[in-house]
Amino acid sequence: MRFISCLLFSTSAATAFQTPQINNKQLLQSIQQTTASVTAAASILTIASSPANAVSGGGLDYANLDITGQDFSNNSKTYKGKDFTQVIAKGTNFSGSNLQGCRFYKAFLVNTNFEGADLRGAALEDTSMDGANLKNAIASGTYFSASLLDVATAENADFTDASIPPKTLARFCDREDVKGTNPVTGNDTRDTLFCP
Ligand SMILES: *[C@@H]1O[C@H](CO)[C@@H](O)[C@H](O)[C@H]1NC(C)=O
Ligand SMILES: *[C@@H]1O[C@H](CO)[C@@H](O)[C@H](O)[C@H]1NC(C)=O
Ligand SMILES: *[C@@H]1O[C@H](CO)[C@@H](O)[C@H](O)[C@H]1NC(C)=O
Repeated sequence: MRFISCLLFSTSAATAFQTPQINNKQLLQSIQQTTASVTAAASILTIASSPANAVSGGGLDYANLDITGQDFSNNSKTYKGKDFTQVIAKGTNFSGSNLQGCRFYKAFLVNTNFEGADLRGAALEDTSMDGANLKNAIASGTYFSASLLDVATAENADFTDASIPPKTLARFCDREDVKGTNPVTGNDTRDTLFCP
């Protein structure tokens, strides 16, 4: 670790910042392909992203951190607008949290619990969302990519004005579990998606 950090410091800032990101991307792909070694790969990923924090002075908010399994639920404080870029949040509990405008770009959100969370305007593109829970979530104006298809449930979620790629949306509407009414907004899940 020490050796890697020194090595990165001696290269240019741009290179030092790029290197861990490429590693993370490759590792994330291998995690998606190899479910058996998820735990081992995640710990490697943590080590690989540490030098990036050191170089960039700790990063913003929760960016690049490993908050696997932690409780971010039902908080008295708000996470509104926080940066969770490339966060490792496997199984993290964000149930009932205020995550308005948060950036989860390229985050590892496998089995992450967003039940009843306020995700208005949040960015969830290029994430891994296998088994994630979007039940009762408010996802108005939220940005998704194809990984939306991997969530375990989106029952009762509100997707008003959410940004979803057309092909992803068509397949998402095909799911029988995409239905219900949001308990907070009263909006019908399929209506908010304009599902046929
Ligand atoms: C997640 O947080 C919610 C709200 O605090 C709680 O009801 C639930 O039991 C938690 N889930 C897990 C798996 O810890
Ligand atoms: C979580 O939030 C709900 C709704 O605001 C509240 O009713 C409940 O008591 C809270 N639970 C905890 C453990 O703080
Ligand atoms: C619920 O749907 C109405 C009508 O489409 C919309 O104006 C409103 O913004 C939606 N609520 C949320 C929280 O997105």
